[in-house]
Amino acid sequence: MTETDGVHKKILVAFFSRLGGQYGVKNITKGNTAIIAEMIAKKTNGDLFEIEVEDDDYPMSYEALVEYAKNEKEHNYRPELKAKVENFDDYDTVFLGYPNWWGDLPMPVYSFIESHDLSNKKVYHFCTHEGSGYVKEGFSIYGHIAQERPEEADKKVTDWLIKQGFLN
Ligand SMILES: Cc1cc2nc3c(=O)[nH]c(=O)nc-3n(C[C@H](O)[C@H](O)[C@H](O)COP(=O)(O)O)c2cc1C
Repeated sequence: MTETDGVHKKILVAFFSRLGGQYGVKNITKGNTAIIAEMIAKKTNGDLFEIEVEDDDYPMSYEALVEYAKNEKEHNYRPELKAKVENFDDYDTVFLGYPNWWGDLPMPVYSFIESHDLSNKKVYHFCTHEGSGYVKEGFSIYGHIAQERPEEADKKVTDWLIKQGFLN
């Protein structure tokens, strides 16, 4: 028995992810982090929640988005979110996923963290990136592997979930 066996009551998989042009991949119709989020939700029977901003002005081209996000980070901006998670108290486990933006969380993820009380929940971070790896403890994977080699990504997700005690 691991500490986590049998105690996961309700699982939320919250994620932030972008479409359009991303590093090394063009015109994607499902974000890299979204792909991983869906895998985790499916394997753990979790509920998916996409973190979305209210006034979404994020550029669709990679270069423009990089500059836009740099400005948001420099101002430590907190974009208003479109919605909060309903019945958030019901969840005892939260998987929180996002792309690495400038070696940090995208600012909307800070908005999410600050508007949802995570203090009594077990939180597992997961992140996609293109080389810098991860910003905190958790699962990290190259975004283009999620996008272009889903079977490889799926195996890595499974291995990680086994280590965390969610799968056998
Ligand atoms: C604004 C921005 C900043 C980024 N900064 C980094 C970075 O510092 N390190 C890194 O490895 N990848 C960085 N990337 C690459 C993304 O983390 C990677 O493409 C990710 O998989 C995108 O996920 P998504 O499709 O779910 O949005 C950056 C991408 C963007 C758009």
